[in-house]
Amino acid sequence: MTDNSFAPSPGSSASAAEETDFGFRSVRKEEKKPLVRAVFDSVAGKYDVMNDVMSLGIHRIWKRIFVTELGPQPGLSLLDLAGGTGDISFGWLKGGGGPTVMTDINASMLSVGRDRALSQGLVSDLSFCVVDAEAIPLKDMSVDRVSIAFGLRNCTDKMAVIREARRVLRPGGRFMCLEFSRVQVAALSPIYDAWSFKVLPAMGNLIAKDRASYQYLAESIRTFPDQETLAEMFREAGLSHVRYQSLSGGIAAIHSGWRL
Ligand SMILES: C[S@@+](CC[C@H](N)C(=O)[O-])C[C@H]1O[C@@H](n2cnc3c(N)ncnc32)[C@H](O)[C@@H]1O
Repeated sequence: MTDNSFAPSPGSSASAAEETDFGFRSVRKEEKKPLVRAVFDSVAGKYDVMNDVMSLGIHRIWKRIFVTELGPQPGLSLLDLAGGTGDISFGWLKGGGGPTVMTDINASMLSVGRDRALSQGLVSDLSFCVVDAEAIPLKDMSVDRVSIAFGLRNCTDKMAVIREARRVLRPGGRFMCLEFSRVQVAALSPIYDAWSFKVLPAMGNLIAKDRASYQYLAESIRTFPDQETLAEMFREAGLSHVRYQSLSGGIAAIHSGWRL
């Protein structure tokens, strides 16, 4: 992928209402999905190794906390949105969770996930489906848990995702989101900034031969709503008992809301 693939259409005269963020840039809403798709098509093969390198393995701890909080039980079904290469779905199943539908808008990410599932012997109770989290092709009130990990910031209409998650949840069901958030420890900020904007793109270039995608990933973290704003979006979508937990000084956060 080259830097040019991030360029908005020339001559675009979109109004602010028709625009959305793509990292630090403003692009027309209809341009974001193909741009995000290009990022994940490009990084799919190196996604898992890059996650370990970029987070120094810490994403594994965050995901473990997230899955434990999701509360896997054999009788509960899970819809994993933006499931990528499968960490959340696999954690759920290994933790004793019930029927799981692992979804993502990118077939390239799901295909890496399917190969990983096979190699880990995770074949029963797991299905795969290409799904746009903004328009979930499931009936109302049909699943017990909906998860999205590091996916919401890549979606164009984040409120649509949260509303859709609530719609497909059974009463008593829970939606949980794990996402990068706002650092709350002042001393951490300069180190985190240097890591995000200098080290990450350089490592993306070195390991995945793709500086631009990792520059986007760093930028998309900074344009994502902070902890309180996201909690308010959950409430606005009709979720109840909304709460959140910051992780690693606010680098990431887990948000949770129930459909009552
Ligand atoms: C950073 S990865 C996260 C993957 C996985 N959940 C994890 O935690 O490792 C973000 C994923 O969001 C997916 N994605 C982006 N926009 C999406 C959308 N509108 N609907 C569903 N998935 C989407 C991408 O294809 C990508 O696989």
